[in-house]
Amino acid sequence: MDIKSLYKLNVVAVDDEEMILKHLDNHISRYCNKFEKFTSAIEAYEYISTSTVDIVISDIRMPLMNGIEFSKKVKDYKKDIIVILLSASNDADYLMEAINVGVDRFLPKPYSIKELIEILENYATQIESIKEVKLYNEFIVNKLKIKENNFKDILYYLEQYNDAINQTNLVRKFDSNGKIITTNNKFTKTLGMYSLANQLKEINSFDVIKNTTSSSDNFFNNLIIYENQNQKSYIESTYIPIYKYDQTLLEVLEISYDVSEVYKLNEEIQKTQETVIYMLGTLIESRSKETSNHLKRVALYGEIIGKAYGLDDKQMELMKISSPLHDIGKIGIPDHILNKPSSLSDEEYRVVKEHSKIGYEILKNSNRDILQIAAVIAYSHHENWDGTGYPQNLKGEEIDIYSRIIAVADVFDALTHDRCYKKAWSIEEAIDFIKKEKGKKFEPKIVDMFLESIEDILKIYRKYTEND
Ligand SMILES: [Fe+2]
Ligand SMILES: [Fe+2]
Repeated sequence: MDIKSLYKLNVVAVDDEEMILKHLDNHISRYCNKFEKFTSAIEAYEYISTSTVDIVISDIRMPLMNGIEFSKKVKDYKKDIIVILLSASNDADYLMEAINVGVDRFLPKPYSIKELIEILENYATQIESIKEVKLYNEFIVNKLKIKENNFKDILYYLEQYNDAINQTNLVRKFDSNGKIITTNNKFTKTLGMYSLANQLKEINSFDVIKNTTSSSDNFFNNLIIYENQNQKSYIESTYIPIYKYDQTLLEVLEISYDVSEVYKLNEEIQKTQETVIYMLGTLIESRSKETSNHLKRVALYGEIIGKAYGLDDKQMELMKISSPLHDIGKIGIPDHILNKPSSLSDEEYRVVKEHSKIGYEILKNSNRDILQIAAVIAYSHHENWDGTGYPQNLKGEEIDIYSRIIAVADVFDALTHDRCYKKAWSIEEAIDFIKKEKGKKFEPKIVDMFLESIEDILKIYRKYTEND
């Protein structure tokens, strides 16, 4: 640590507890150009308004004038003075106000002197750079006779860019240890005190620094979901490391956008799709006098088997949403065949089998994931593992995994409930049938998974069968 860089700093410390001031005096004053301490914020302000001061370190809770009022006065007097507030974690209520008055940095108690010196050292570098720029500015203006206005313009532009970023984005800064240094107004307004208090608790576990500096792009993006009393906020953030001249890390800038609306809209679309698909499926099933619970049960059986089989969450979600359309092709089958109470003639059976192809034709042209999978399931849910099914006589893994799973779920459910052409079988009979068809009609592994999950499957059976 380059403590030498503090030797130009004029520091003022304010705390109503003398012991704390004495401690700071003992450890810091010898490194600074000037170190003044006050137990009263009023006196400190009098001093500041008549002297040259670079940095103010202040406590929050003080009698007569508290740290927030004091910081506001200092910032109103001179924006350039760096204000560091020492805050206990139970001061969270004050932090929002502190941000509003423009406090540069919070330092949660307890802090170490080493930490404080590091912070001062960083500000010293910053203050030095600003002075250098000013000198450089004067040098160029005087020696090179370039119009001073140009530089004023540039600084003015910079300020406006800065304001523009601050007004439109959620901004936070992290020091090189990953601790939050500042949070702008918009951030706290969007996410509220809750998140701010939480962040202060979690700051040590943050791995922003590692991710940012190890990324080959020199920045990385991240989506964080903040939850606050059932309210979800989706915040998309970009992290950009800011380096010193010597290429060591100064800080990390986090610029975030609130994308909650987009996400909520997406969720809404997803839910609407789900509902429409389910309603459509129900409509079809109602023609063949089956209840909508058939679709519910098949979807849920499919989910249970899929999970045991090892499908990932996304696959299971897609299968569950799209499976209610497996028999949508029945829309093209005449009523008298669909609801015939006796067994079908060969010709009638040929017509019924058409429903797979018809369903596929209805759904195949959408490029939405859900409908694509629905199309595949509609097409292949009557294929058999041994190649004896219809309509394409697919065999083994030529049949997609969703159809292989839904086939078992659909058959089990059809067997265990009344249909126009037959009475419900007992659970035992249906399970025996599935076992018997292992490796014939059904994929062996899926039958195993079905049997393994039979307890969960029967829970669904009982829950959605009573009111059938
Ligand atoms: Fe079918
Ligand atoms: Fe079905």
